[in-house]
Amino acid sequence: MNDELKNTLIIDSDFHIRQSIRFFLERDGYIVDTAGNANEAIYKTKNNQYNVIIASYNLSDLKGIDLLDTINNNNPSSGELIFISDTPDMKEAIASIRRGAFDYLSKPFEIEKMSFLVNKAVEKQILIKEIINLKSGFWGPLKNVVAAIDARDHFLSGHSEKVRDYAVRIAYEMGLSKKETKDIELAALTHDIGMIGVPVIFIGSGLSEKDREHIRMHPVIGARILGMNPLFEPVLPLVLNHHETSDGTGYPEGRKDDYIPIGAGIIGIAEVYDAITSDRSYRKAKSRDDGRNEVLMEGRKFHPDIISAFKRIF
Ligand SMILES: [Fe+2]
Repeated sequence: MNDELKNTLIIDSDFHIRQSIRFFLERDGYIVDTAGNANEAIYKTKNNQYNVIIASYNLSDLKGIDLLDTINNNNPSSGELIFISDTPDMKEAIASIRRGAFDYLSKPFEIEKMSFLVNKAVEKQILIKEIINLKSGFWGPLKNVVAAIDARDHFLSGHSEKVRDYAVRIAYEMGLSKKETKDIELAALTHDIGMIGVPVIFIGSGLSEKDREHIRMHPVIGARILGMNPLFEPVLPLVLNHHETSDGTGYPEGRKDDYIPIGAGIIGIAEVYDAITSDRSYRKAKSRDDGRNEVLMEGRKFHPDIISAFKRIF
């Protein structure tokens, strides 16, 4: 474990819960601090840097999302927050993850599941740190970071590299400038980096509508993470809009036509083509011909110039 990233805080009014979580985290090598109420927690998070905060959603003096907002306002670089709740409530879980919580567990939970989530939260912080620290000569380390994120679901291994390859070919075919093509290459490689903010339980499983809500947040999370390094400024609109489609059925905003940057559309079509022609947990890869036909059947979703270039290449 990275020694700099092992400070944790447990916030719960129940002494026994604090102690049992403490026991297991200390077993895993974490340094554990505790707070019995929101006031104490707010004081501690103002004055200390924690990497992971585990908080009861149902504290009597300040409830879930208000606690999250207060901690983040007081200390914007405070660690990943995992909520534990007395009652399973999917709406509550989605709302808190939307506001920036790392994950949400309802009681009773297996302590091993908690250890797993804490380790994942630290892993996320390590990857974000690496992105923030990327400087010149960054392609090698960046590829490693992207590969690590894709590998969270083995069906997505290599996905970002393939999308990058397809997107660059389309941009080149469309005769875009060197600068535009370079930006598209960087955005294509990093387009799904926001998947690091999607809880692991929602990746690769049979997806329900609720699961999809989490997945649909990844362009926003990705742009937020990349925005921490000025190097990525030109690519943020491409990452943010890579799932928007010309017919307005995309996400996160349901933008249409001219409101979608051309580079975002190129990454979008490349991603769809790769998804169809790669194995997924729920089906086998389809052939390149099938991939081409399926993309063309959805032609209304992409700018006509992108479709023309796609047809000439694939
Ligand atoms: Fe994506």
